[in-house]
Amino acid sequence: MEVIIRPNRQSATSLTARLLADHVIKKPTSVLGLATGRTMEEVYDDVASMNLDFTFCKSFNLDEYVGMKPTDINSYRYYMNKHLFSKINIPIGNTYLPNGAADDLPEACRDYEQNIIDNGGIDIQLLGIGRTGHIGFNEPLSALYSRTREKALTPITYAQNSPLFDNPEDMPKRALTMGVGTILEAKRVILLATGTEKAEILAKAIEGPITSMISATALQLHPAATIICDEEAAELLGEKEYYRWIFQNEPEWAPYR
Ligand code: F6R
Repeated sequence: MEVIIRPNRQSATSLTARLLADHVIKKPTSVLGLATGRTMEEVYDDVASMNLDFTFCKSFNLDEYVGMKPTDINSYRYYMNKHLFSKINIPIGNTYLPNGAADDLPEACRDYEQNIIDNGGIDIQLLGIGRTGHIGFNEPLSALYSRTREKALTPITYAQNSPLFDNPEDMPKRALTMGVGTILEAKRVILLATGTEKAEILAKAIEGPITSMISATALQLHPAATIICDEEAAELLGEKEYYRWIFQNEPEWAPYR
């Protein structure tokens, strides 16, 4: 795991966008793992402004609410079309999200996993982090080997996301989410966290013990995980000086300094 601290949200966001862009430039047939949420909106704005060629890319999103039709303005399909897919040239048929409106949810989850495998696996996975430490919607008690499945959301996540609904009570209490095991199989993982409200959980995720109670701690097991945060989210990290040193001295970061 590497931790990169940037001075503010804008520079953390634009570094994340550049890493994704560089991946697509190097491998135009990239299979992208994508996240939704407030943190990603500016990343997608940046990515969209770069005029990259996504013609041969595929994408798989982390999660979708159960019972949510793709046309619902609160669905993650709607979010992705609005914030990214309508602004880049990816063929919409190359973009996948778990089917939260399926009649048979376990079957939809199995199909989703198979589709990822059939496309060669995820090359680069973007992640945010929720206040419970979830990645995707892997709430506490998510097995570290879990696969795409239905998961009950916590009251904390409900409080985090329900204000985004016109009527907060319309927020579903369950979601389909890639599992922790699914995420750990992505070849590269980039987690972006910004703002003081993420500081406490980010410190636990990076420097705390690995536990299924905080699914982001599983990234400590990943061979190529990069955590990008701003100074606010980094506030409670114990090894900040070391992380800053990595960005200033490691050759791989030279193009981004
Ligand atoms: C979204 C997702 C979640 C969010 C997390 C942070 O697809 O999988 O894990 O990344 O809840 O959300 P924001 O960015 O709104 O704080």
